[in-house]
Amino acid sequence: MKLSEEQLAAFDEQGYLFLPECFSEEEVSVLGAEADEIFKTERKEIWYESSGAPRTAFAAHTYNDAFAILGRHPRLIEPVEQVFGEQLYMHQFKVNAKAPFDGDVWQWHQDYGVWARDDGMPAPRAMNIAVFMDEVMAINGPLMFIPKSHRHGVLEAGHDVETTSYPLWTLDNETIAALADDGGIVAPTGKPGAVIMFHGNIVHASPPNITPYPRKIVYLTLCAVSNHITKFNREEWIAHRDFTPIEPAPDDALLEYAREYRVKAA
Ligand code: SIN
Ligand code: MN
Repeated sequence: MKLSEEQLAAFDEQGYLFLPECFSEEEVSVLGAEADEIFKTERKEIWYESSGAPRTAFAAHTYNDAFAILGRHPRLIEPVEQVFGEQLYMHQFKVNAKAPFDGDVWQWHQDYGVWARDDGMPAPRAMNIAVFMDEVMAINGPLMFIPKSHRHGVLEAGHDVETTSYPLWTLDNETIAALADDGGIVAPTGKPGAVIMFHGNIVHASPPNITPYPRKIVYLTLCAVSNHITKFNREEWIAHRDFTPIEPAPDDALLEYAREYRVKAA
């Protein structure tokens, strides 16, 4: 899948691109079912909220076949190769649960700020991709972005180790107010299978989920191979050290997997 000139220009201008129907219901429902199973298991890669509810399953593409396919899916790999003009490796892969009632906040931050400070990533030549596994609504903790904020480079941040169970380099309120004065704040909503590509420097956050509705999103962070990280401070299942270029899977690989899964489950 290739992005159009208009889509590339919108991404440059706004810092994100929303693709509301990237995967079909059939393709994505198998991912949701597999994620629910993963969150029932005990593994070192699963991080919990302070309440005990699951927050994030890291590196699911290394221990689950459906997520392994998603991690090589051409509808995600090809557009990012197009933007960076080279092959990619997986810097990070995570499934965020944002559990009903217990899904906690993600404070305002820039992802490249984290990759640069913690992992020694040389440049913001890595792209985040969010794939919705549940319907993301205005009420269940959607991702919020400040359009155009990616143009400011890495902003000053403080290391917040207290607000949630997950330490994060976060931005202060004055900075957020000034950026929002310029770009406003958006929260794309949509059905399972929708995708958001977003720049490593775009400022984003999400509020807690106090509704009964789940909001699972899977995130791929695809980094240009020549831009691989240089510091190995974090666990290898959080910041990967396998810089092998990703070879895309066939376009129908996830659909095939979903069909076989349904036969086995019947
Ligand atoms: C993130 O910014 O890394 C995650 C935010 C979310 O899942 O709401
Ligand atoms: Mn983030």
